[in-house]
Amino acid sequence: MSSAVAVFTRLPIWQAPMAGGASCPALAAAVSEAGGLGFLAAGYRTASAMHQEIAELRRRGTQLFGVNLFMPQPRAADPAAVEAYRSRLADEAVRYGTPLGDPDRGTDDEYDAKVALLLEDPVPLVSFTFGCPTAGILEAFARAGTVTVVTVTSAAEAVAARRAGADALCVQGLEAGGHQGTHRDDPREDGRALPLAALLGEVRAAVPLPLVAAGGLMDGAGIAAVRAAGAVAGQLGTAFLACPESGANPLHKQSLTDPAFERTVLTRAFSGRRARGWRTASSGSTRPSLPRPIHRSTTSPPGCARPPPGPGTRRAWPCGRARATAGSARSGRALLELLSAELDATEAGRTPPG
Ligand SMILES: Cc1cc2nc3c(=O)[nH]c(=O)nc-3n(C[C@H](O)[C@H](O)[C@H](O)COP(=O)(O)O)c2cc1C
Repeated sequence: MSSAVAVFTRLPIWQAPMAGGASCPALAAAVSEAGGLGFLAAGYRTASAMHQEIAELRRRGTQLFGVNLFMPQPRAADPAAVEAYRSRLADEAVRYGTPLGDPDRGTDDEYDAKVALLLEDPVPLVSFTFGCPTAGILEAFARAGTVTVVTVTSAAEAVAARRAGADALCVQGLEAGGHQGTHRDDPREDGRALPLAALLGEVRAAVPLPLVAAGGLMDGAGIAAVRAAGAVAGQLGTAFLACPESGANPLHKQSLTDPAFERTVLTRAFSGRRARGWRTASSGSTRPSLPRPIHRSTTSPPGCARPPPGPGTRRAWPCGRARATAGSARSGRALLELLSAELDATEAGRTPPG
């Protein structure tokens, strides 16, 4: 393992990149300052907005951090189906007091422009989801001194990412909140997704790279368990959503402790791609035909007004299988410190702090 990679594998707690606003510079800075790895999520942002967030994080004095990119997606949508789905959402949007997202932003998420900016002005670590970059791009990042991590959801994806030259892998189990980072989305494969423990075992047997485990981790004992199973670190998303520094929509934060939301479900209702979120009236849909470009129409946009109460209210927020506890409204620093203390105690065989 190179010394650049070892800098990151020494950090056992990674804050997951969460597109849609949650993993903003304030949260990433708090986590990195407290000894974890903070992440910015470039997904759904323009290349220039990504660059501004990096500049803001640096202004806060954060040195070690990651930036996450979406891999470009094939345009699978039938435009007429998108338009029909969009008009169905229009009434919902009025009820929620929020504008509809724009389904016509394209499917590449400004990938090329973001890669170019990150190569011109390198950051310490870049991770990729929804696919694996070409060997040429991974090599270019290596030359720039940037460590690369590819999210995988199967041993086959792990082997492909290693062949392409990734430095490390983020192993994402089916418990994970938000979208599954599957490289080639195929509804026929839906039943094959593995829980984190099983997936970690398979990936570990298939590739010798450092592994970071994601999906359903909410405390230090969970992080200790994945480390005992061969991961160098745990990557937690839902656990950080409710932190005051998180830029998640306030209603999204409230939903984490709202007893009306009890169970999460893997659904295609967010975007057409498989994602985990609260089970709601609208998340029952598993229609594979809903295409990625409408993602922005269906996730919680900033500034979303409080929806009217009552049965039939539809809220479709991504969230992991492990429920965030009320205690997770701690600051990013306090949460990181608690997780570290629990992890240390578990690994030392002591009783974790109560
Ligand atoms: C609201 C939300 C947004 C997410 N956005 C991204 C993203 O932009 N890129 C990514 O690689 N993973 C994304 N994820 C997945 C996380 O990186 C991570 O795999 C997941 O949160 C781990 O599961 P947990 O939520 O149970 O901790 C997102 C997850 C959530 C909950």
